[in-house]
Amino acid sequence: MLTIVVPTYNERENLDELLSRIDSALSGVVEYEVVIVDDNSPDGTAERARELSSKYNVRVLVRLTKKGLSSAVLEGFRISEGDIVAVMDADLQHPPELLREMISKIEDGCDIVIASRYVKGGSVEGWSLLRKLISKGAILIARILLPKVRRIRDPVSGYFMLKRHVLEKAEDMNPKGFKILMEILVKGNYSRVCEIPYTFGLRRRGTSKLGTGEIFNYLIHVLNLSPSIVRFALVGAIGTIVNLGVLAVMRYGAHIAHEISSAVAIELSVISNFILNDIWTFRRSRRSGFVQSVLRYHLSNLAGILTQYGTSVALFRFLSLESIMAQFIGIIAGFFVNYFLSKSLVWR
Ligand code: GDD
Ligand code: MN
Repeated sequence: MLTIVVPTYNERENLDELLSRIDSALSGVVEYEVVIVDDNSPDGTAERARELSSKYNVRVLVRLTKKGLSSAVLEGFRISEGDIVAVMDADLQHPPELLREMISKIEDGCDIVIASRYVKGGSVEGWSLLRKLISKGAILIARILLPKVRRIRDPVSGYFMLKRHVLEKAEDMNPKGFKILMEILVKGNYSRVCEIPYTFGLRRRGTSKLGTGEIFNYLIHVLNLSPSIVRFALVGAIGTIVNLGVLAVMRYGAHIAHEISSAVAIELSVISNFILNDIWTFRRSRRSGFVQSVLRYHLSNLAGILTQYGTSVALFRFLSLESIMAQFIGIIAGFFVNYFLSKSLVWR
């Protein structure tokens, strides 16, 4: 059996056509149920869905507040009964006729079938060049940072089908955001992914719920799914800004001696790096308590820290370099010392 999970928020006007087209596409082909997960839409989506359940095999799950698209899909998975599960939007931008082809791909041995805008034959309707660039750029970032997504053309599609076993080990799935497929591609249990082309049409009724704020959330989402070294590198970059920022304030704002400003700036950047790496990069998976971990972190960075400080102070005193310049070169020197020490002591 196939379960089609449809998250809805204010989609009452789309339900009749959606369910009738799904039924035309699937009746006689496969046994199916539709699970509608509605977040108590004020337009009466859930009521209409219940009415239609006399005609079609529909179950309606109503949540009391709007909790977001991904979490709605996860709820739908939880109560789904099919051994094959599909996800699609209610607004008919995802043509139900494609379900049949997706089923046959599953039967051919694909574990996940993605309806894709970006394989040959696929397209989007009515998007400006800018919107296309943003969409492609967002996907490119995911493909660079997420090894499991590298070969997928449309890893953020909202229209896909999978075999139930794909979800089996994927327990800690993030209910935030819009991109549940990306989450599944990173955490799911599968070997073959297939993409089939389709045209993402224009929405004819109702309005989109994907705001521009989603771009930032998307980036955070990709970083959270990335290997820890990606977050580690970004934290290092933030640490450089903290370091130079503190130095500038102390030195140029409060006119404190370079030797003191430099030391405080370095120490604060080390501490901010530690905290960010602890909370974000390594998600508090510490080997020891907080204080001991802070000390260990200093120890593992000691050569770099001393190089930074030594270089910064020497350049300032003996070459009379501008404070912030001396500090910046110190940071770079510290980076190289870390690199060469690691390279010669740890690797060949
Ligand atoms: N239950 C629930 N709760 N449903 C929601 C919520 C929510 O908070 N937010 C949106 N939905 C439902 C909508 O009612 C619709 O059925 C579906 O989720 C998609 O929402 P849209 O607002 O139409 O999204 P979109 O068209 O901008 O984006 C779609 O296409 C993108 C590109 O393929 C989505 O499928 C994205 O996930 C996808 O990346
Ligand atoms: Mn839509």
